[in-house]
Amino acid sequence: MRPQAPIALQAAPAPPDALGRTLADLRISVIDRCNFRCPYCMPEETYPADHAFLRARERLDFDEIERIARVFVALGVRKLRLTGGEPLLRRDLPQLVARLAAIEGVEDLALTTNGVLLQKFATPLRDAGLQRLTVSMDSADPEIFRGMSGGRGDLAQVEAGITAAEQAGFAPIKINCVVMRGVNDGGVLDLVARFRGTGHVVRFIEYMDVGTVNGWRSDRVVPGAELAARIDACWPLEALPRNAGSTSRRWRFRDGSGEVGFINSVTEPFCGGCTRARLAADGKLYTCLFARAGHDLRALLRAGESDAALRATVAGIWSHRGDRYSERRAELRAAGVLEHVEMYRIGG
Ligand code: GTP
Ligand code: 5AD
Ligand code: SF4
Ligand code: SF4
Repeated sequence: MRPQAPIALQAAPAPPDALGRTLADLRISVIDRCNFRCPYCMPEETYPADHAFLRARERLDFDEIERIARVFVALGVRKLRLTGGEPLLRRDLPQLVARLAAIEGVEDLALTTNGVLLQKFATPLRDAGLQRLTVSMDSADPEIFRGMSGGRGDLAQVEAGITAAEQAGFAPIKINCVVMRGVNDGGVLDLVARFRGTGHVVRFIEYMDVGTVNGWRSDRVVPGAELAARIDACWPLEALPRNAGSTSRRWRFRDGSGEVGFINSVTEPFCGGCTRARLAADGKLYTCLFARAGHDLRALLRAGESDAALRATVAGIWSHRGDRYSERRAELRAAGVLEHVEMYRIGG
């Protein structure tokens, strides 16, 4: 009899979920703290300075994060994204990046940040093997920017962070802007003008009803199609094909000066292609951004579970996944399903 091939067995992909979607991306939140208080995520009133965030021992350490990442890669994950809170607040983050970059099978390693600490970290992150960077920037106007950060953010610092990231070799950088009607939507064209021709890609995100504390109202959502029309009137656009599993609708400027994207998760949900799993800093695994509860992988790790047992558990969780909140938003909200994990705990 031929011996079993342990490598091949380890690399078996997770079965598709209940709606036929594969497991391809893992988003890892490394910390639940943030130096901003964006009104759509962690409003100041709800998260004062003394709010009880996770303590260090409650968070996964780098050994645990790497081990879980390896389990997911063995199950077919090829894309990793580090998020927070604000991930650059996690001490020694470049060390974690280096460990994740070294995992065979990881084809894409990215990070989403508010950019405040990028001046210090852009080069160490690049040197550690980070491939792609997304910076949140909700306005090109310093006053509105400060307001959108809950009075904490300094636009000049984020701009300097983006410059540092360019110098470190990140290209293109994605710039995420959450649009709230009556708050920052008046600045959309200025933000486009700021990044047109730089090679970086601005993506406008519809304000979502994530978490429980951001006081979401549907009349504050600006449909991406409306923004695209406004931009097109100024700088004509042409649609680009959508990448499989991608969150964003892409358009290029007809004059060749780059592209913009729209993440229309409220008006045009994209659950059908959602291959993303999310790991919170405390080791809970969430199968949807709008999940009510997660699966406690930290408890399994700390109880001494083997890699094989962890793989079987995660594959089982994924195979039962039926989430498609954004497609069912109206129906679920009407039924009073309003309890969701907070965004800063699973990083968007
Ligand atoms: P790429 O890897 O470059 O395609 O980026 P991404 O769009 O997957 O990641 P990014 O963190 O830049 O996502 C941008 C924003 O899109 C997030 O902060 C969320 O607001 C939203 N988003 C990302 N993934 C999902 C998702 O699965 N569901 C919903 N509803 N929104 C999502
Ligand atoms: N709606 C849309 N996007 C959000 N983010 C956080 N909260 C929301 C929300 N309510 C996203 C933004 C930010 C990232 C960290 O999380 O894209 O840039
Ligand atoms: Fe912090 Fe990002 Fe949430 Fe803003 S959206 S409060 S930067 S975690
Ligand atoms: Fe995926 Fe849930 Fe977002 Fe739908 S709402 S795209 S299932 S994370």
